[in-house]
Amino acid sequence: MKKSLILAMMAIAIASCTAKDKVLITYFSASGTTKTLAQELAAATGGDLFEIEGAQPYTAEDVNLGNREARAFKEMADKSFRPELKEKPKNLKSYDVVYIGFPIWGNAAPNIIYTFIEQNELKGKTVIIFSTSGSSDLGNSFRLLKEQYPDLTLVEGTTLKRNPTPEARQEVINKLKEAIPAK
Ligand SMILES: Cc1cc2nc3c(=O)[nH]c(=O)nc-3n(C[C@H](O)[C@H](O)[C@H](O)COP(=O)(O)O)c2cc1C
Repeated sequence: MKKSLILAMMAIAIASCTAKDKVLITYFSASGTTKTLAQELAAATGGDLFEIEGAQPYTAEDVNLGNREARAFKEMADKSFRPELKEKPKNLKSYDVVYIGFPIWGNAAPNIIYTFIEQNELKGKTVIIFSTSGSSDLGNSFRLLKEQYPDLTLVEGTTLKRNPTPEARQEVINKLKEAIPAK
């Protein structure tokens, strides 16, 4: 066999061994907590970031826990309501792993996460779910998503609870990073 051919074959073999999944970290964040976590996760994984935003932006008043008439509570009360997205990620096709992060609202993912999942082609990708919360675990929010979208490969990540220690924060990042399946 010609030396150049052998070298080319070796290069292909090395490339396929080191080929890494392309990672996109998408997140919705009304008051910045999930955004910060998503940014830290991007730094840890080398993934790209995409912020899921409402066509109508969420204001502080929209998530005012003291006002049961606030937008967030209205959306939580109507599970079939799908708030419109500002935009969709470009080149979603090129990603193998897509994280979806959100603040837990009423022990569930906010409605806009359902809009995002329904308006983007996620079939065939590894979709890792994560959240931030006051005290709730991710369990119920994840179960509801899994029930709603049985055809997707959803992986349960974890949640970052309010006022974490630096160690707890790092533990969350590590756990989310390790959720990427080994090739
Ligand atoms: C409308 C609303 C509902 C919430 N429901 C829950 C809940 O069920 N469980 C919980 O632990 N935290 C709950 N929280 C707290 C948020 O999940 C938490 O503050 C989150 O980190 C906010 O993330 P963000 O800054 O990215 O928006 C709720 C907050 C809001 C505004």
